[in-house]
Amino acid sequence: MNKFATLIGASLLTLPAIAAEPWGNADPKAGKALHDNQCVACHVRLYGGDGSKMYTRDGHLLSTKLDILQRVATCNAQTRAGWFPEDEADVAAYLNQQFYHFKD
Ligand code: HEC
Repeated sequence: MNKFATLIGASLLTLPAIAAEPWGNADPKAGKALHDNQCVACHVRLYGGDGSKMYTRDGHLLSTKLDILQRVATCNAQTRAGWFPEDEADVAAYLNQQFYHFKD
């Protein structure tokens, strides 16, 4: 290997890890507030308790972080919550942190 290739190889190895989260740098705290205000009541009506059974029930629908993000976007549209993509990201990050714990 010539010097140039070695240099490129070394710089690739030292690249900082790129954020792997599909929701980027989202804020789960802000997500919790949005979620509790606009989403939880209906889930509580369906499942009782604090409504979290919607996310932890057997056979729940989601299996990846991307699934959460897409489902939140769909629910946002269906319920006309009027959220921006950043809000959807915050809520998805919150749901994963609190309930789903998906690694990818
Ligand atoms: C009018 C009632 C209602 C409202 C309001 C509502 N949801 Fe839901 N949600 C449902 C129902 C019903 C399901 C189950 C759908 C199914 O089983 O196909 C669901 C399922 C979900 C799931 C998937 C659960 C799983 O793991 O299977 C997520 C995530 C979710 N909702 C997020 C939200 C978010 C975020 C909001 C607020 C923007 C919201 N929901 C508002 C009724 C509602």
